[in-house]
Amino acid sequence: MKKHLLGLQSYGSDEIFEILDHASTFRQVLERDVKKIPTLRGVTIANLFFEPSTRTRISFELAEKRLSADIVNFSASSSSLVKGESLRDTVENIRAMKVDMVVIRHSAVGAPHFIARRCDTVVINGGDGAHEHPTQALLDLYTIRERFGEFKGLKVTLVGDALHSRVIRSNIFGLKTLGAEVTLCAPATLIPTGAETWGIEITHDIEEALTNANVVNIMRLQLERQSSGYIPSLREYAAIWGIDKNRVGLMDKDRLIMHPGPLNRGVEITQEVADSEESVILDQVTNGVAVRMAVLYLLAPRQKEEKHEEI
Ligand code: CP
Repeated sequence: MKKHLLGLQSYGSDEIFEILDHASTFRQVLERDVKKIPTLRGVTIANLFFEPSTRTRISFELAEKRLSADIVNFSASSSSLVKGESLRDTVENIRAMKVDMVVIRHSAVGAPHFIARRCDTVVINGGDGAHEHPTQALLDLYTIRERFGEFKGLKVTLVGDALHSRVIRSNIFGLKTLGAEVTLCAPATLIPTGAETWGIEITHDIEEALTNANVVNIMRLQLERQSSGYIPSLREYAAIWGIDKNRVGLMDKDRLIMHPGPLNRGVEITQEVADSEESVILDQVTNGVAVRMAVLYLLAPRQKEEKHEEI
């Protein structure tokens, strides 16, 4: 296992499966009456959220508490950043406080790598700009494996804003590494230059992308970025690329509907599909806590032999 989790691009299948296997164990711990275990007692973790987050922030905090770690929470709006402090100075202060692990979300691509280079602490990327969101992709992979058991031959369609979505990028890296057949469907304006080198199918035709697919993972249309004219209107996006019941009907009968959240109901996904029996959107959230427990457990700076005895 690498020292840090900065992205899935550099993770091999053995490392990904090691995380998913440990997540299965922690998923069982979460079903117990007493969900707290002493595994990370004495380990201090700083959660540095420079960008808004609901799921990732709460999920990491819950995972850390379940593992009995000591936690320090930081949010940009209530920190000295508003007084003009740079990321570098914030990092120097964190280093001086000698935390063992850092979870960081930041709007700048490479912010987690910057900290990893400058501090001795273990760094976990909670989402950096439009680059990667590895724990989201790991929980997506976990949810797919829980249902289908394996990835080889599985048809997974990713729909949405690949230009800005770190979730799409991390999903593509993970799914490709594990052998899934990946199709990306988005308007041409929301597919980045260089996507043709990712080794996946790319189409602008939603019906073609969904036909016989086992999984559709629908990305949030990043409304805060749409003023730049990437799409004509939300109504048009919903009509051409939105996932409704009829489009779901084109998929394989054995199928999953996924979305990392937050959802724009009525834009990229209809209310009916989001709340349907085939939707595993809330299972993804539950699995996210177990996956993050696994990541924290495997990367915590402690002896592995000790860890195995304590689960
Ligand atoms: N899926 C996800 O990253 O959600 P948040 O932005 O709420 O953390």
